Amino acid sequence: MAEGHSKLEGPDLVQGVAFADLPDGGKFVGHCGNEQVLLVRRGAEVFAIGAACTHYGGPLVDGLVVGDTVRCPWHHACFDLRTGEALHAPAFNPIACWSVELRDERIFVGEKRKRTAPKQRDRGSGQVPENIVIVGGGAAGFAAAEKLRREHYHGSIVMLSNDEAPPVDRPNLSKDYLAGKAPEDWIPLRRESFYSKNDIDLHLNADVVSIDARSGEVVLADGARTPYDRLLLATGAEPVRLTIPGADQPQVHTLRSLADCKAIIERATTARRAVVLGASFIGLEVAAALRLRDIEVHVVAPERRPMERVLGPQMGDFIRALHEQNGVLFRLEDTASSIDGTNVKLSSGNTLTADFVVVGIGVRPRTGLAEKAGLTVDDGVVVNAFLETSAPGIFAAGDIARWPDPHTGENIRVEHWVVAERQGQTAALNILGHREKFVAVPFFWSQHYDIPINYVGHAGQWDEIAVDGDIIAKDCLLRFKRKGRTLAVASISRDIESLETEVEMERQ
Ligand SMILES: Cc1cc2nc3c(=O)[nH]c(=O)nc-3n(C[C@H](O)[C@H](O)[C@H](O)COP(=O)(O)OP(=O)(O)OC[C@H]3O[C@@H](n4cnc5c(N)ncnc54)[C@H](O)[C@@H]3O)c2cc1C
Ligand code: FES
Repeated sequence: MAEGHSKLEGPDLVQGVAFADLPDGGKFVGHCGNEQVLLVRRGAEVFAIGAACTHYGGPLVDGLVVGDTVRCPWHHACFDLRTGEALHAPAFNPIACWSVELRDERIFVGEKRKRTAPKQRDRGSGQVPENIVIVGGGAAGFAAAEKLRREHYHGSIVMLSNDEAPPVDRPNLSKDYLAGKAPEDWIPLRRESFYSKNDIDLHLNADVVSIDARSGEVVLADGARTPYDRLLLATGAEPVRLTIPGADQPQVHTLRSLADCKAIIERATTARRAVVLGASFIGLEVAAALRLRDIEVHVVAPERRPMERVLGPQMGDFIRALHEQNGVLFRLEDTASSIDGTNVKLSSGNTLTADFVVVGIGVRPRTGLAEKAGLTVDDGVVVNAFLETSAPGIFAAGDIARWPDPHTGENIRVEHWVVAERQGQTAALNILGHREKFVAVPFFWSQHYDIPINYVGHAGQWDEIAVDGDIIAKDCLLRFKRKGRTLAVASISRDIESLETEVEMERQ
């Protein structure tokens, strides 16, 4: 997405600023030429880096400096202050770095430094695989392929995806893009030239139907076989399908792929009324996007409050009110019993009229391949701390992976964009023979109209929610606790505290 600002903020850093104006640990924004630059001071050292995060342009001045890194306030990407490298997803592109000179008690920013490739790590004595196959062209698969090349891996990378589109920015499909506020060229994670330039052999419409672990090959639907030395399974999740009468009609949609999203957009261009089944994150983000297109939206869901299971009753009430203020009509504690043309019958006996229906009733991990291959599966592909499955040499990452989370002490599986990408990155390192445990604290965000909700940690169950601030004023931090221990934190407009919680949890 676009980086940069139309109006330049702060002082001209080429002319210099007083060293005393930048306290230790402090940061501020100025400019060099026509670019915004962030100055960060750590002790006697000063760093000058691009001011905008390379993910969606988040203002790094509002982020958190941790050691020699800075974390983005919006979705917690992490950059190296010395090299600009994007160390942790969801950003992949480095930020620019400038040379800095300290002279006469002033800081002068000089030339933009040339980007250098990240240093190659020592791989130890393990054998580097010749052929790596990635099944899945989503968040985890993309992040793994990108990381392998960034780590100077020169062998073959084959990426097999049964989608017709190259890896896309999936979270956008229920937000700005669906609302008609983001152009289509924001959607691919990378242009097609990225794959050819990096020698990533991306096959689209390539449906992998089985794994022959004995011969070390994956088998495609057309019978073709692709050999691997190391395999990464990153097949994600698929929407739970509705089974009521009429659910198979063409105006009943689910949302996972770009094609799904385009089909909904096509309906939305002529429709006046929609029914969304499910008050989950995706269901409600879809409701918000459709409201922004001025479509009448009814949300039908069995629960008493939207998102209560994940965010608790207070936030559930807030989210409901937020959507109602934006015109969404809720039918809670109700379900659809049949769909007939434009009529959606509810279990309560009521009938809603809708030009189309979007079903957001949850997802299931796509574990079929793993099960068929005899890997250990338990509501997800079970992996160890290195993201390796029960079959040596076969790794799993993203929505399908159930991993031992060191923060909760439990084996967990989540469906979060940033987790999938970070797991892809860790899996890539381990495929190359590094022994790196996956220890990232889970993070997700969800966006409703102009309100982003950030969530750090994982609280499957809690016995207390401590609310700091005012939820209705959209300035709050909720701590989900079990036996007095904070397992997760949800927040609105508390970016620094959200980042600080992440760091605290990492250190625990
Ligand atoms: C509309 C939408 C909005 C979302 N918004 C957010 C958000 O705001 N924040 C957040 O944290 N998370 C969000 N998520 C969840 C997030 O997108 C997922 O957690 C993430 O995409 C998981 O990454 P993955 O790589 O595991 O799976 P995916 O990204 O789903 O990728 C799986 C890939 O595997 C391919 N595949 C599957 N089976 C096969 C096979 N047999 N052969 C070949 N290829 C196969 C698929 O085609 C796909 O390319 C959203 C999800 C959706 C659908
Ligand atoms: S904008 Fe920085 S992580 Fe998303």
